[in-house]
Amino acid sequence: MNSYTHPPVLVVGAGPVGLVAALTLLQNGIPVRIIKKDPNPRTGQRGSGIWPRSLELFNFLNVPDVNDLGKPALPIRTYKSGTLEPLKDTSMVPYMEPTPAIPFHSPKLIGQQLLDVVLRRHLEKFSCFVEAGTELRSFEQSDEGITAVLAKNEILETVHTKWMIGADGAKGIVRKQLGLTFLGETRDDIHMLIADICLKGTGLDRGVIGTDLEVSLHNPFLRPTDEVGEDGWQFIIFGHKLDISKIAQSEELIFESIASIVPTEITFKKLVWVSEFRPNIRMVNKFSDGRVFVAGDAAHVHSPTGGQGLNSGIQDAFNLGWKIALVEKGLADKSLLETYTEERLPVISEMLDMTTSILNQVITTGNMIARRSPKFYMLGINCRFSSIVLDEFVTPVEGKPINAYGVLDEGHLEAGDRAPDAPRLLHVRPGDSGETTLFSHYRPWYHTIFVFTPSAADATPILTALESLNKSVVRTAVMLPSSAPVAHVACPADLVLLDQGGHAYSAYLVEASQTKVFVIRPDGVVGAIAHGAEGVNKYFSKIFVDV
Ligand SMILES: Cc1cc2nc3c(=O)[nH]c(=O)nc-3n(C[C@H](O)[C@H](O)[C@H](O)COP(=O)(O)OP(=O)(O)OC[C@H]3O[C@@H](n4cnc5c(N)ncnc54)[C@H](O)[C@@H]3O)c2cc1C
Ligand SMILES: *[C@@H]1O[C@H](CO)[C@@H](O)[C@H](O)[C@H]1NC(C)=O
Repeated sequence: MNSYTHPPVLVVGAGPVGLVAALTLLQNGIPVRIIKKDPNPRTGQRGSGIWPRSLELFNFLNVPDVNDLGKPALPIRTYKSGTLEPLKDTSMVPYMEPTPAIPFHSPKLIGQQLLDVVLRRHLEKFSCFVEAGTELRSFEQSDEGITAVLAKNEILETVHTKWMIGADGAKGIVRKQLGLTFLGETRDDIHMLIADICLKGTGLDRGVIGTDLEVSLHNPFLRPTDEVGEDGWQFIIFGHKLDISKIAQSEELIFESIASIVPTEITFKKLVWVSEFRPNIRMVNKFSDGRVFVAGDAAHVHSPTGGQGLNSGIQDAFNLGWKIALVEKGLADKSLLETYTEERLPVISEMLDMTTSILNQVITTGNMIARRSPKFYMLGINCRFSSIVLDEFVTPVEGKPINAYGVLDEGHLEAGDRAPDAPRLLHVRPGDSGETTLFSHYRPWYHTIFVFTPSAADATPILTALESLNKSVVRTAVMLPSSAPVAHVACPADLVLLDQGGHAYSAYLVEASQTKVFVIRPDGVVGAIAHGAEGVNKYFSKIFVDV
């Protein structure tokens, strides 16, 4: 079989979610084929907020461009009604103090069309090219694999593949054909228009997002963005007094509505993209069936309030990618894939509740910039409840409530939580040198075992007992406290680091005299916290077939 035309994974859809799924698999050494129905590149910025947990995900994927090209969130300025006289500036997002454990502490704005371009460039490094204008028409699956029918320019092609990821958006065919439920509601009480537009307005400040609370029935929102072109803005408007469907039909009516809201002389240059929508609030009952998975909008749609949609979708893909890779390599049992639904469903269900409650608040107060919670940073999202995480330092409590979105608490760390970063770590093995950070060692194609221990000698028996773990997918590291003697450090680990600034010991809540072993999953989640090798092997016995 030709591995180019028959890669083991077919990704359906090349929005942000399909692209992240494909990149994660490629980095895991799994060839993918990625198709999208639309023959043209995407236009439209749509939701542009990338929250810190997603910035971390892009860091793990070696995609620094999102953080580098993304713009910081601008303040939101409200004006006195009918004037360009500022009333007050408010922050769009809650302020978070930067800490050593949280290197990405504020969101970035990047339009979806640019995000797509950035991600495709990374796929191309693996000689993987999105096949545009290629539509999935139907598929069938058996225990052995999937047979899918694709169409390009009305020419049908039958392909065989072993796994399929439906990242084909809200109206996608994958979810429908799997027969997954998509329960929820369509909100007719809110109707939005969103447009990318180039215009010049006398006295308009490009350093703020302009809104006018006093005309709250309209809730206009004008965000400067160069991605659209010179004098580019993203324009959002909603309100029950407006006939959005009618306005969206015509460039003139869009210009007119902006001119009637923004009290200054405006020169319109170009309408780049426009769309209207009513929030749908729905999710699937499970994220997979057999060899087929759904992720992103194909699995859940919701109100844009809180800007969690795209972020949740790429986090779905990142949770799934490494699991498919291990199963495809024959290292993990198929049952590992069931933890995709197990770990994502509670997160998504809480996200739907959260975004809906903000939507209701926006509707009742008429205030688009209604309360923003630090939860939106998504750093507290966890899977403590997952059947594959293991924590020997926590007493299990029967019926403990699931708090999947969590709250970020730097004074607490359990298996299932986001693994914190730590800077200024010193390489201390002969031959290695320089400083590093934890995040530069977390990558989607391997687990990392970090042995925090007072001396390298204490780590050696633990590492020896773990020697049978497959080195192509598990790395070992020793973390010594700043007080440790570092002369002649020899031990059988891939990495030996000295926590000279104390940041790792503090973020992972370990005393300098203690031995604690952390297993960090390929998706940057703490998989296990153990006393020693026995706990680590117990953790891996739930991941790998041969432990
Ligand atoms: C008008 C609009 C405005 C939005 N505004 C916001 C916002 O303000 N904030 C926010 O957070 N989110 C917003 N969203 C949602 C956000 O765009 C989505 O959450 C995000 O795009 C989901 O990404 P995805 O990859 O799951 O799906 P999509 O980006 O929808 O991508 C789906 C992909 O699947 C392909 N496809 C579909 N069917 C097939 C098929 N049969 N065969 C092959 N390929 C197929 C499509 O061509 C496309 O490539 C908005 C969405 C829309 C449509
Ligand atoms: C380790 O995993 C790789 C696949 O990543 C496989 O080819 C190899 O045989 C495995 N090694 C052992 C010792 O099982």
